[in-house]
Amino acid sequence: MFDPVPEDVARALAATALRRGAFGDPTYFLTETSSTNDVAASLAERGAPEGTTIVASAQTAGRGRFGRSWFSPPGAGLYVSIVCRNEAAAPFVTLAGGVAAAEGIRAATGLPVHIKWPNDIVIEATAPARRRKLAGVLAEASTGAEGLQYVILGIGINLRQAAYPPELSDRATSIEAELGRTADDAAVLAETLSSFAGWFAQLSRGDSHDLLARWRELAPSARGASLEWDAPSGVMIGVSAGLADDGALLVRIGERVERIISGELRWK
Ligand code: BTN
Repeated sequence: MFDPVPEDVARALAATALRRGAFGDPTYFLTETSSTNDVAASLAERGAPEGTTIVASAQTAGRGRFGRSWFSPPGAGLYVSIVCRNEAAAPFVTLAGGVAAAEGIRAATGLPVHIKWPNDIVIEATAPARRRKLAGVLAEASTGAEGLQYVILGIGINLRQAAYPPELSDRATSIEAELGRTADDAAVLAETLSSFAGWFAQLSRGDSHDLLARWRELAPSARGASLEWDAPSGVMIGVSAGLADDGALLVRIGERVERIISGELRWK
């Protein structure tokens, strides 16, 4: 059912085995699949242990947030999904995934990527509207009668430019386009898994303090940036005022501060 793990990926995983612990062990590789999140969920249903990782080099039905599709053409991106089971860590899996993707890209390429709430990995530009996204995170939880069964953390990273559809072409970028040279895909994967493993271990012990601090450090736009969004009452305008300890974005609107827990924001 799975394809052989490419040699460079196997080498990078072996070199980071101690830092990764269970994450990426095992790693299953697919040249093409529908969605790595679906493959990971079906393995999790059959009892796959925490840390089981699926990597594909193309997806035919990649999913993004808000039910959007995630553009996943062959060889242009890294499409990764990880089985997570620890209940204490579960509420923070999305934030940890964003931090891990940012740290993995930084460690493997040196690109100074940032996080834009909730979990877009971006390259900043002089004007917020020209900021470009190069990775995204989608965590999907499954619960049963006995509570949480598992969370699948999906991470999509644009490695090299592709013929992006028109709605993405001025908002998406890739590691290689930003670097101006080829990137070590296997190192991006291994470093992202290593970073995630470290944060997940802390979260599993019930400690989210350092993760939240690191997220805040990597997300300068979460404080002091002008933004607007659509509410049932009309367009709202506010200024970001930091990340709450549960992952909500705080936004100052005049004298009051509102919590945004999901939804699409427009950064001005
Ligand atoms: C976003 O909308 O920003 C989240 C995108 C998440 C995409 C990744 S690619 C690997 C995994 N499989 C999917 O179908 N989606 C996630």
